[in-house]
Amino acid sequence: MNPGGEYEDTLLVARREEVAPDVVALTLRHPAGRDLPAWEPGAHLDLLLDTGPTRQYSLCGDPADRASWRIAVLRAPAGRGGSAHVHDTLTEGSTVRVRGPRNHFALRPAARYLFIAGGIGITPLLPMTAAAEAAGADWRLLYGGRTRASMAFADELADRHGDKVRLVPQDEEGLLDLAPYLTAPHLTAPYLTAPHLTAPAGPGTLVYCCGPEPLLQAAEEACRDWPEGSLRTERFQPRTDGADTESESRAFELVLTRSGLTLTVEPERSVLRTVEAAGVPVLYSCEEGTCGTCETDVLEGEVDHHDSVLTDEERASGETMMICVSRCSGPRLVLDL
Ligand code: FES
Repeated sequence: MNPGGEYEDTLLVARREEVAPDVVALTLRHPAGRDLPAWEPGAHLDLLLDTGPTRQYSLCGDPADRASWRIAVLRAPAGRGGSAHVHDTLTEGSTVRVRGPRNHFALRPAARYLFIAGGIGITPLLPMTAAAEAAGADWRLLYGGRTRASMAFADELADRHGDKVRLVPQDEEGLLDLAPYLTAPHLTAPYLTAPHLTAPAGPGTLVYCCGPEPLLQAAEEACRDWPEGSLRTERFQPRTDGADTESESRAFELVLTRSGLTLTVEPERSVLRTVEAAGVPVLYSCEEGTCGTCETDVLEGEVDHHDSVLTDEERASGETMMICVSRCSGPRLVLDL
């Protein structure tokens, strides 16, 4: 455990497999064979790399297997070096520092699910499809990618689940068009029949989507008329939907109740950096509002959320905030720190 109460350890790369061009899957184990912390579908792990930034990767193995964790990493040419480090330096027998797991994309119980993956966004959905199948839920997976060969785990999914899985390689069929699958459920009870897929898009369906930003935005747009909370998304890049930045130009008072401190958060300085500069230990990782590591309980004050983690309901409740990017809309914020 680290000071923040999260599991943190050095694990062994027990297996490394190329699961698609530029996608490597790593199986991690404890060097002494100890059990690893339990996790649930949707969880991700921090890789604390020797060089390069800390990066987050979804666990894509079997939650029942306590002896190992599995992740899959796409080499991102335009990334910040994390995936290149994984591809170039982590081989079987090497070690890597990890922290977590953490879950902001948990699978909630439902009778029907529609899973939507774009590219490497398939990783958190793999254990979700397995869990949905085991629970006897009615589910479908839409999985888009550049080419069939580039789509990690595609053959495995199609072989195992047959026509519950709809693969949409862009070079064969064009971009994955969500509209036919996500027509508002009140218009399509109980099922929507779309070309090549009977999607379980009816009342009570939950939609889980992970992939590149345009796909996430398309899902948000298509689900605009769905009941609140029907769509859950997982982002590994910050939102690009033009968050209000007015509060960034204003200072506000920050009260840390457990530390007994009253501070001022200056414009252009984050709450996280202000707290850290005052000597209060806080855990953080991405500093761009996507990983959830810095989530902090809010006791008073109106939060101006800028993260890509919390759902609309969680934002509206104002109970927690990501202090690396979110601020205060008013003059005073009180945190449980
Ligand atoms: S450090 Fe990742 S959300 Fe704040």
